[in-house]
Amino acid sequence: MQNATLPPNLPRNFGRYVPKKILAQTNSATVYLADDPKRVHREVVLKVMSLAISQDDVWSDRFSKEAGFLGELEHPAIVPLYDFGIENEQPFLVMRYMRGGTLADRLSNGRISPSSTCAMLDQISDALEFAHHKGIIHRDIKPLNILYDEQGNAYLSDFGIATFLDKQGKITGPGTIGTAVFMSPEQALGQTLTEASDIYSLGIVVFFCMTGRAPFDYAKDASPIAIMNQHVHVPPMRLRQVEPGLSAGFESVVAQALEKSPAQRFASARGFAAALRAALVNSKTAPSSPHQPGNPALLPTDQLSEDDPQAIWVCKFCGYSFQGSQQACPICGSKEFSKSSW
Ligand SMILES: Nc1ncnc2c1ncn2[C@@H]1O[C@H](COP(=O)(O)OP(=O)(O)O)[C@@H](O)[C@H]1O
Ligand SMILES: [Mg+2]
Repeated sequence: MQNATLPPNLPRNFGRYVPKKILAQTNSATVYLADDPKRVHREVVLKVMSLAISQDDVWSDRFSKEAGFLGELEHPAIVPLYDFGIENEQPFLVMRYMRGGTLADRLSNGRISPSSTCAMLDQISDALEFAHHKGIIHRDIKPLNILYDEQGNAYLSDFGIATFLDKQGKITGPGTIGTAVFMSPEQALGQTLTEASDIYSLGIVVFFCMTGRAPFDYAKDASPIAIMNQHVHVPPMRLRQVEPGLSAGFESVVAQALEKSPAQRFASARGFAAALRAALVNSKTAPSSPHQPGNPALLPTDQLSEDDPQAIWVCKFCGYSFQGSQQACPICGSKEFSKSSW
């Protein structure tokens, strides 16, 4: 029976799971907080593939692959899958509800501390390396796909576009799938991918954590093609160009993760995390003031206003800019924007 306090437009049950509210809506899926009535007091997350694309073989295949990957990846820092089902031709995943929000939420006020960054990287790199050892490349490492529990532990999620390495340890075929801001140069070029591609994306995530912004300047052109072009051709900013208070150790570790050539990056995700932790231990950095937006071009958060169609808006999270109004950033999915002062 429907609870009178729920929004009237929530769909019926999926399998035995009862949606309670929408947590997120993406291009391919709706993510609900739901009840599992067979379990006492257990809330779960339901990720339901959108009706429009559930007829599409490529997307359906991706969705069941995601279930397969999650089923195989039992790890303390990977969001656990509880169930997979199909209701009225709509496939759905049932996962643990991560109550601590996303890393994107934490970054929406600016950078996070180096020690919080290291704690996140320790956990996520462990999860990523576990996936890599199983021959799985994530391909969409970004703050929206890093979730937290109530105790502040970070978990890797969303294996929706992950794929297997072949027997030679390479991914072949088109690789330009993922999120432009976090894409490795080889991914942007659609080239062969290795584990090093995920390490580059994690390097961009760490840059965001420590500075509150991306290591490239999107002021002139923030189209996905221009962003990908920068990954391929433009040297990333050094960490201390944005945050001069950070140590040289942090700067060189992040720079190594962001090397254009995959061979010059860290050999493993955990190697990256260990190097950042060593830099933290050696750091003589003066404590930096928390929650300051790293991008000086941004004004304090404004509300998108319909009456100003000429305004240029900048995604507060990834730096993507656009004119007019948008519900969510088309690059990283964030819903927080600032009015540009450019
Ligand atoms: N297990 C979960 N617990 C809490 N929130 C979640 C969970 N899974 C997803 N979400 C929320 O839904 C968003 C989209 O989920 P995701 O699996 O990344 O979908 P997509 O594959 O469409 O990107 C996440 O960024 C997060 O905000
Ligand atoms: Mg996602």
